[in-house]
Amino acid sequence: MSEQTVGVSAAPVTTIANLGTHEGASVTLHAWLYNLRASGKLLFPIFRDGTGTVQGIVPKAAVSLEIFETIRHLTQESSVIVTGKVRSDVRAPGGFELDVENIEVIQRVSEDDPFPITLKEHGVDFLMEHRHLWIRTPRQSAILRIRAETIKAARDYLDDNGFILTDSPILTPAACEGTSTLFPVKYFGEEAYLTQSGQLYIESTALALGKVYSFGPTFRAEKSKTRRHLTEFWMVEPEIAFCGLDGLMELAENFVSFIVERVLTRRASELKVIGRDIAKLEVVKAPFPRLSYDDAAKMLDEAFTKGLIEQKFEYGNDFGSPDETYISSQFDRPVMVHRYPAAVKAFYMEPDPIDAKYALCVDVLAPEGYGEVIGGSQRISSYDLLKQRIEDNKLPLEAFQWYLDLRRYGSVPHSGFGMGIERVVAWVCALDHVRETIPFARTLNRIYP
Ligand code: 4AD
Ligand code: MG
Repeated sequence: MSEQTVGVSAAPVTTIANLGTHEGASVTLHAWLYNLRASGKLLFPIFRDGTGTVQGIVPKAAVSLEIFETIRHLTQESSVIVTGKVRSDVRAPGGFELDVENIEVIQRVSEDDPFPITLKEHGVDFLMEHRHLWIRTPRQSAILRIRAETIKAARDYLDDNGFILTDSPILTPAACEGTSTLFPVKYFGEEAYLTQSGQLYIESTALALGKVYSFGPTFRAEKSKTRRHLTEFWMVEPEIAFCGLDGLMELAENFVSFIVERVLTRRASELKVIGRDIAKLEVVKAPFPRLSYDDAAKMLDEAFTKGLIEQKFEYGNDFGSPDETYISSQFDRPVMVHRYPAAVKAFYMEPDPIDAKYALCVDVLAPEGYGEVIGGSQRISSYDLLKQRIEDNKLPLEAFQWYLDLRRYGSVPHSGFGMGIERVVAWVCALDHVRETIPFARTLNRIYP
């Protein structure tokens, strides 16, 4: 980033994250007051600028009375341009402190209407109600930086490995992931839906371009309140022509390993701010363990017999959150569960040629109880079978004619998966709930702010 000279002094403008390159020199920060401590003739303002926080030191004797009094009466989240000399201090969280020389207040927050989020504990409802302000806190901004890095890593991996970005429409005429979670919208007198997944469209671009992906918001009217579900979430979906389930699992483990490694190297300081145990992330390296649905079901049976889990797993069902949590707790890295019963999975999945009762699909379950981060499959390539499945699922055949065309004209085995960004960030950051992984979460009972 280029450094310019504006504000109260000739000192170069920099960021808190960049203080290390200015040790011993005076710099200018564009910042907000995060906290202020006073101890007699010493003031300790803590500034934040979105890249980090730094403690300032203001001895009364070192600055003019006006500057001292200005800082002494500064209120939390007042915006400032502050100049000071960078001094290294091993005890400081970022390694540096600022000997304040000058300050210009841009907007002083009135004490009659103070910043609502104090350094005390607040309830989650209060924080979500003030999400537009909550994101200023160091922990929340660190999470948002890790989210951005996760997205960039995902895109870089795919861009650098021959995948072409092909965007899918947001307004769609049909369901992809079941009709019960569709969000309808009026479309000039007709009914349309917000997309649940770009998959059907990238199947067509994969047959046009070979290896493709889509990345964008997806929507599901999830009626249950869980810590893993949003109604609006961002999904990255690679799709590959001439690829089967094995190739897809290889992509999944390499993709996830790359993303975790990237966050570890580029967002080390943010992981530190949020207190993440990085040893748990450092072991996330391909290959990942692979487990068939049947073996996972056996594992749950044994755990129930030994009294390790409370709920008996009914063979043939999809795994619930507690089941996923138990399965993933048996491994130190993500586990790839493959070949679920076709009956519990989506209509488009290719049956296993060895036993058509199973689907050629895979769910990647994150460690530490974070559950499914990736869901994917090989797609049905036979026209007749796909048409049958559409009818069996009572989906409107008319809306799927174009999708059936992909099996009429040069059909090939092809596979893809979807990775939910928020689920990955929740796991990488070890968060209790996905609502903190996105700037403005949309859930069953919240669409404000
Ligand atoms: O397993 P899902 O439903 O798979 C699909 O949508 C496929 N069409 C994707 C594909 O094959 N191209 O969703 C994929 C991933 C899940 O593993 C999860 O990470 C995330 O999307 N996800 C959600 N994340 C947050 N809130 C929700 N309500 C989510 N539903 C799915
Ligand atoms: Mg799934």
